[in-house]
Amino acid sequence: MTAPAPDHNSDASRISDEKILVLDFGSQYAQLIARRVREQNVYCEIVRHDISVERIAAHNPRGIILSGGPSSVYEEGAPQCDPGIFAMGIPVLGICYGMQLICQAFGGQVKNTSQREYGHAKISISPNEDLFGGLPSETDVWMSHGDQVTNVTESFEPLASTSTCPIAAMRHKELPLYAMQFHPEVTHTPLGFQILRNFVISVCDCEGLWKLHDFAQQTIAEIRERVGDNRVICGLSGGVDSAVVAALLYQAIGPQLSCILVDNGLLRKQEAESVIAEFTKHFKTDLHVVDAKDQFLKELAGITEPQEKRRRIGYQFVECFKAEALKIKDAKFLAQGTLYPDVIESGAALDGPAATIKLHHNVGGLPKELGFELIEPLRDLFKDEVRKLGLELGLPEDLVWRHPFPGPGLAVRCLSDITEEKLSVLREADSIVVSEIKAAGLYRQTSQAFAVLLPVQSVGVMGDARTYENAVAVRCVNTDDFMTATWSYLPYEVLARISTRIINEVKGVNRVCYDISTKPPATIEWE
Ligand code: XMP
Repeated sequence: MTAPAPDHNSDASRISDEKILVLDFGSQYAQLIARRVREQNVYCEIVRHDISVERIAAHNPRGIILSGGPSSVYEEGAPQCDPGIFAMGIPVLGICYGMQLICQAFGGQVKNTSQREYGHAKISISPNEDLFGGLPSETDVWMSHGDQVTNVTESFEPLASTSTCPIAAMRHKELPLYAMQFHPEVTHTPLGFQILRNFVISVCDCEGLWKLHDFAQQTIAEIRERVGDNRVICGLSGGVDSAVVAALLYQAIGPQLSCILVDNGLLRKQEAESVIAEFTKHFKTDLHVVDAKDQFLKELAGITEPQEKRRRIGYQFVECFKAEALKIKDAKFLAQGTLYPDVIESGAALDGPAATIKLHHNVGGLPKELGFELIEPLRDLFKDEVRKLGLELGLPEDLVWRHPFPGPGLAVRCLSDITEEKLSVLREADSIVVSEIKAAGLYRQTSQAFAVLLPVQSVGVMGDARTYENAVAVRCVNTDDFMTATWSYLPYEVLARISTRIINEVKGVNRVCYDISTKPPATIEWE
């Protein structure tokens, strides 16, 4: 692959000029708001709610969104924003708590009402051209706060109401301030996308310049400039994030990239082989495969305690990676696939110049020890954007849509102690689960699907003989963020095929169970 030369005069150098800031008041939906804005091709960042007016000015945003939040504006210590932002002349949209803050700042009243609305509601919209332009006079919305704006001063004009919420949306008569009690960012507000689009495009006057193609070209140019003629090391895990990082780096610096894949013997069936094939086919890169299977198995022998397994795997990983990295001469940089949610969760995105970044699971601890400078080209992106970028960079669909796989690999799915025999039973069973889910066309609709080998033998009968063999659990979940998950309602026929095939084809298994636990209280992985 050869990357086209960057064009610094193109839109690529301006893609972040159109920026919307989301001030986060502790909303569970702050990231969702940012994603919705980016879906309008407008760059969006989440910042602390108490960011100063000066810092906001330095961002030079086209618009500001005040998120919702769990607090009540009239409580002591409730999070506030710098009231100076309302006088900056920059359009502001307050959502839920954000609306209540605007109301309070201008002397209106916010109350906990007995008629409070949670969940679905229908709003009636007064004719208006900007925020609700193109919407019907009635539409469904989603509410989720006990407080309401009950009274606003003369300077505001109500824009929408529900039967129990007379001011469900409002606009300042002179300043570019808009607010709504409901949540336009959630899918339960079917026309919410249009409302946010109206705010971003019509009110904030954005053109929509944030395109992943331009982002890729700009990032490639930046990497090239930063790296110069130095060497960069990139760890490969087989997952989409590290593959996209490698693809970006490859386009930026080609032969100056060295990739390291640590084969810890805990990968899925054919996984190391497929990563090697993909990376030798797509990138003629300097790929170092560290065969550390025996080393890991030896370290794990007889260990049954889940945390101890993880600790040993983490330690071994660092040792193997370090040993290989030190063999690569002149490497100055280490690339890793930190994503925007990691950055936000670590607090680093929230506008602190000296904030620290949470280290990626799989390379935790490496940078400090080795003295590498970090390159994190995905730190502005959400997972779905990383996938789109992967496709944009020419990575195969199969890799881009691969389910996530934990760093400690099959070790956390092979319960109790680990042996090569158990791992090979698990690999076979797991490959049947995944291939049947793919064959049923359900792989993209599910978030993670795998087999777990239980440390349980049970009695069965095969032919005329009694068996006493292993049990396998099938785990398949649906989730948006992996913090909560539901088990997938797989069709019985698919479950039946998985079970029949595992019992017939995998020697040593005579029983298959389907895990029907939600997270919480169960986790997705079993250990
Ligand atoms: P749990 O089991 O906590 O998993 O519900 C949530 C998500 O995280 C993945 N996971 C890990 N990923 N290193 C990783 O890179 C780990 O140690 C690890 N533990 C869990 C899990 O597969 C699921 O996607």
